[in-house]
Amino acid sequence: MKSFLLLNGPNLNLLGTREPGVYGSATLADVEAQFTVQARSQGFQAECFQSNHEGALIDQIHAAGQRFAAGDLLGVVFNPGAFTHTSIALFDAIQGVKPLPVIEVHISNVHAREAFRHHSYISPAAAGIVVGFGTDGYAMALDALVRRAAAQG
Ligand code: DQA
Repeated sequence: MKSFLLLNGPNLNLLGTREPGVYGSATLADVEAQFTVQARSQGFQAECFQSNHEGALIDQIHAAGQRFAAGDLLGVVFNPGAFTHTSIALFDAIQGVKPLPVIEVHISNVHAREAFRHHSYISPAAAGIVVGFGTDGYAMALDALVRRAAAQG
């Protein structure tokens, strides 16, 4: 069965208790369970990984690129957290495994927040961006990847 990967970056392990007014009350376990159910309902497998460490996320993207090339992984939904605004290394990783489709997700509307959140190093490398729809954004991104995979046969 083909897979989709859900990747979450730093501090997203704190979902549910971290600034609930900004990020909502769903926990990372809730988000991952919902992603898994959604993927299965479409006939796919879900894999979920969260890390607070940039290198661990880079390693996941490299591995995802290899699995995409092998045909068993179809795409990645990625919330890079604060690394969005700092990480040329994550940009390079995503560029380096093209054409693996990576959808960038932000729970909050980063453009309505502090100026330092307005720039993303990830967006130019992303296949698409979902911003500001709360944790529903993960589901929207997965839906986009499923549609993309279906369109490409
Ligand atoms: C975030 C937005 C980032 O600016 C922030 O550093 C996060 C979460 C979001 O999902 O809204 O950690 O990516």
